Amino acid sequence: MTQQDIHAVSQIESAASQHPWNEKHYIDSLNSGHICQVAELDGSIVGQGVVMTVAGEASLLILTVDKEHQGKGHGYAIVEHLSELASQTCDTFFLEVRESNNAAFNLYLNAGFSEVGRRANYYPATRHSASEDAIIMIMDLSFN
Ligand SMILES: CC(C)(COP(=O)(O)OP(=O)(O)OC[C@H]1O[C@@H](n2cnc3c(N)ncnc32)[C@H](O)[C@@H]1OP(=O)(O)O)[C@@H](O)C(=O)NCCC(=O)NCCS
Repeated sequence: MTQQDIHAVSQIESAASQHPWNEKHYIDSLNSGHICQVAELDGSIVGQGVVMTVAGEASLLILTVDKEHQGKGHGYAIVEHLSELASQTCDTFFLEVRESNNAAFNLYLNAGFSEVGRRANYYPATRHSASEDAIIMIMDLSFN
């Protein structure tokens, strides 16, 4: 991901995610040196993921696939690629996912993450949704 990708990335984000990142979140991640990757199909961006790495631990901050391109393996491919990059400096890969997000939860299970705990009511209620637990998932990267 480069600064030039931010507009396209944000458009995918606002259309696909119920809790979208805005352009500033992506710019801050690029400036912070996070692992920021886009997936391209025929020269167009179809998805993106961002990982923060600190002291040997990687955290997935965001993962989104364009609505038109979901269900075709792009999300899985992005997670696999991010895992490979993270494993160069990290032994453990963490993420949190809303308990209602079955698509993401199943993808993470398929990709090798395991559920290790929950944070009760981690995501506060909004005008449109009730509060939700966060499922904490971990993948061991030391075998990569
Ligand atoms: C979650 C998301 C990234 C998945 O991307 P995707 O490209 O559609 O996923 P893939 O096609 O790679 O699917 C990989 C696996 O995920 C799971 N999965 C994907 N969509 C699913 C759905 N609608 N229901 C249940 N499981 C699903 C399946 O296990 C699938 O494996 P399978 O095809 O062998 O059954 C995408 O739905 C998205 O961008 N959602 C909105 C943003 C979001 O919720 N991000 C995650 C925040 S934690």
